[in-house]
Amino acid sequence: MFRANASLFLTVYGILWYHCLMMNENSRATKTQKELFYLAPMEGITGHVFRQVYLEQFGGIDKYFSPFLAPAAKRILKNRERRDVEPDNNRGQMLVPQILTRDPEAFLAATEMLGRLGYQEINLNLGCPSPTVVPKGKGAGFLQYPEELDRFFDRVFSGLEERLFPGGTDTLGREVPSGPFRISVKTRLGMQDPQEFPQLLAIFNRYPLEELIVHARVREDYYSGKPDLETFGIALEESRAPVCYNGDIYTAADYQVLKERFPGLCRFMLGRGIVGDPGLVQTIRDGRETQTEELRTFHNRLYAAYVQEYGNSRDAVFRMKELWAYMQRLFPEEKKRLKQIRKAQNGDALLAAAEEMFRQGVRGPQ
Ligand SMILES: Cc1cc2nc3c(=O)[nH]c(=O)nc-3n(C[C@H](O)[C@H](O)[C@H](O)COP(=O)(O)O)c2cc1C
Repeated sequence: MFRANASLFLTVYGILWYHCLMMNENSRATKTQKELFYLAPMEGITGHVFRQVYLEQFGGIDKYFSPFLAPAAKRILKNRERRDVEPDNNRGQMLVPQILTRDPEAFLAATEMLGRLGYQEINLNLGCPSPTVVPKGKGAGFLQYPEELDRFFDRVFSGLEERLFPGGTDTLGREVPSGPFRISVKTRLGMQDPQEFPQLLAIFNRYPLEELIVHARVREDYYSGKPDLETFGIALEESRAPVCYNGDIYTAADYQVLKERFPGLCRFMLGRGIVGDPGLVQTIRDGRETQTEELRTFHNRLYAAYVQEYGNSRDAVFRMKELWAYMQRLFPEEKKRLKQIRKAQNGDALLAAAEEMFRQGVRGPQ
């Protein structure tokens, strides 16, 4: 058992020291603390093609998270998943692979495999609200079973005592020595009710998590309503691990509101905000608004990269239409052209309609 086996030194000194350090980071307003911005995992959108084009054009992201990998008993990763975390496809990104499972052995096997690829930090998905995932007790569905979740972590952390990261070169090209894996969690506040959160947090606090990323909604919310900042505040106050905020940061003003309410908060994960405005983090960091030209270049590079990845324009057009579902808010007056994008049957039609949009220029909220 992980807890029973932990050494006296670790329990008395290590954990206390770690606890104090992390409590400080979460609850103290420190102007000098570096702010960290993460790209949220978004299945079907922020795969390696998006991430790599984004990195080349914008960058400025401290950690990229892969959309979830769902390890299976027979084969740890599917070809598509393996491709997404292939180090050659992720050069220059600080990539954290994310795993979706409720089976600790599958988690350990996937961690071991990812370690051989050079990944030292692995993230557990406890937030996916999908009706194909939740009934299996995975993603946000796992939050319904706090006792099982506790046993899961217990087994994972004791298993990781025997499975060290083997050492190797990471995706930033750095030599990383052999050592313990780092495990982070991305969670929602509960399944049905944010009142479930304190019990979940007590479980998270029993383990040496690298960080706790909180999407401030419960599963039943899916993506509707407003993030619950009240309950998020509990995470920030009481989490042993450093806390990262996630949910509905679409503009620099949204970020400011959070910063004013939680001055000590210094980790932010953004998903739809970045997909809809790829220059958002640079706007937040130094006030520089996204230029139409930057968006055009990003858009056309991304399309070309998808064509190369899939070997055909049909799938690339499909992906770009998904992107436009988010990017449209930068062009609030262009309903007609947006319709043309949605109806585009091939790459030429899509690029022509997009070019018309870019000629009008970015107008939306930034
Ligand atoms: C299309 C889509 C796919 C997503 N895929 C994942 C995923 O694979 N893993 C995960 O942890 N969260 C996933 N999420 C949730 C996002 O990571 C994020 O928590 C959510 O969108 C809220 O953040 P945002 O308001 O900044 O977008 C997904 C969200 C969307 C909309």
